Amino acid sequence: MCGIVGAIGNIAIAKYLLKGLQRLEYRGYDSAGIALMDKLGDIHVTKVAGKIANLIPLVDQSVEAVSGIGHTRWATHGPANTENAHPHLSASGRFAIVHNGVIDNYKELKERYLSDVEFLSDTDTEVVANLIDRFVSDNKEDELEGLRKALRLLEGSYALGIIDRKHPERLYAAKEKSPLLVGVADEGHIICSDAMAGISVTKAYLLIQDGDLAILTADDVRIENLSGEVVEREMQRFDEEDSDLDKGLYPYYMLKEIEEQPSVLRHITSLYQEGLEDLPQVLKELEKAETIYMVASGTSYHASCLAKRWFEQILNKRVEAHIASEFTYEMPVISQKPFFIFLSQSGETADSRHALVKVKAAGYPSLTITNVKGSTLAREASYSLPLLAGREVAVASTKAYIAQLAVMAYLVYALKGELPDLLKGLKQVEVAMERLLSQKEAIRDVVKENLLDTRNAFYIGRGLDYLTAMENALKLKEISYLQVESFAAGELKHGTIALIEDGTPVIAIVTQAHLAKQTRSNLEEVRARGGRSLTISSSDLALEGDTVVVDAVPMRLRPFLSVVVGQLIAYYTALEKGYNVDQPRNLAKSVTVE
Ligand code: F6R
Repeated sequence: MCGIVGAIGNIAIAKYLLKGLQRLEYRGYDSAGIALMDKLGDIHVTKVAGKIANLIPLVDQSVEAVSGIGHTRWATHGPANTENAHPHLSASGRFAIVHNGVIDNYKELKERYLSDVEFLSDTDTEVVANLIDRFVSDNKEDELEGLRKALRLLEGSYALGIIDRKHPERLYAAKEKSPLLVGVADEGHIICSDAMAGISVTKAYLLIQDGDLAILTADDVRIENLSGEVVEREMQRFDEEDSDLDKGLYPYYMLKEIEEQPSVLRHITSLYQEGLEDLPQVLKELEKAETIYMVASGTSYHASCLAKRWFEQILNKRVEAHIASEFTYEMPVISQKPFFIFLSQSGETADSRHALVKVKAAGYPSLTITNVKGSTLAREASYSLPLLAGREVAVASTKAYIAQLAVMAYLVYALKGELPDLLKGLKQVEVAMERLLSQKEAIRDVVKENLLDTRNAFYIGRGLDYLTAMENALKLKEISYLQVESFAAGELKHGTIALIEDGTPVIAIVTQAHLAKQTRSNLEEVRARGGRSLTISSSDLALEGDTVVVDAVPMRLRPFLSVVVGQLIAYYTALEKGYNVDQPRNLAKSVTVE
């Protein structure tokens, strides 16, 4: 994944690079580095394993930089150590580059063109740095053609920031499949993987596209394709404020984002009622589709599974939910009149994007529902609708999941002609959610009593509760590192119950009236084998001794509340264990590799 930044011109270069990288840490935080170009054409590289916080004290602030590039890494090639951290220099020291993406043919390129070069890292990026150096040096008459030639040889994905000792007045940026923006500031230009990195410098960005090479100077930007022809690119404004991204008094973004959820619901219902550009057309497409295919990953896949049930139960509409990485390579049989929905918080997930590319190539209509305006998936689908959750920073997705449920519910109830029922129900959900959040310390106590002395745990449920169990299990495992599995409550006895030992926590979700009795009897089976049973129930179905009881809102909307309980359980477990809640190990927020 990784995040990259770069800047040239009269901008406080080192300050922007470091602040920008901190904003991009959600994309990876295994190692970090920057390269500063001074007036004389010397490149000063500082890099380190671990987070940006480790890098900041090492950077020589006295360098008078005219340009610079920076990187925060989610390791793909080689371990997360200082040698593999970016920027990478070419062996001659002429070029420094940062890279987000994966070069699939880097070994072939290395063997074919660079057998005489001594490499210092295990990365594909160092190969790219040397390839560029080799081709530019071999094309002295037309160095840019040398650079384009090197880029044309790369297979895979890249967003590159490149500086050249021989041309300190230039910063190059190139893109293929990985996100990259060119920001236009008053007295200079920047590049970044996400506008969030640059908002303290500019809000105006050129949306460069796959196959583009941008040549930035302090006062000019030229964008070419890889044949050297100049191309025009659209300018977009990103109106987020710097302060929107602060966590204020919250210890972690995750808690802030959990607490924002009632207002996210309000925001979605009011903006969707006001009307959105693609909404009428999307409703028509959904109406006429014979089968709706929902394609997503992780938490967004879980939201798709829930939406599928709503479509089926409320509209009697056939819907399939697919894991994006599976769908891309083993497409199911597609019906006569399909419509595709891509749910994605980031709008950049590589697995989902590859699926969308296939869907587009087959000529099918598609919709992306995403939280990031202007993201790749939003741009490339036939239609796009916003999630309106506000920027989600914590790696574990919370408010974006709630927003996905709300938007999908809106579409389903709008098609059914029963929006007033939904709006009334969501009002009740908002109030109940506020109440639940005001009692969150009780969930911390549950965690302290039950989840700190175990290595594994289970979530069970039936119907919609099973789908919530899937999401709650993912949330808990990804930030607490407990081995947590979710099971359809009735399925546990078909094998997995063998794992229940004395004290194994099993959390049952019981909010669906027609399934409550069955789930409770499955929980009894667990208890009989020594398991520690916990129950999240709705007040109308609650029994004495239930662990967390939430308000009884309309039956189909109950997942909105039981998932918040799961988020809080996950949050407090990670917090009590002393982990970095917002940046769990091995993960990144935007997964832009396959
Ligand atoms: C889990 C989580 C991930 C994402 C997944 C898809 O908390 O955040 O499972 O849901 O990586 O990401 P998006 O929604 O950006 O496509």
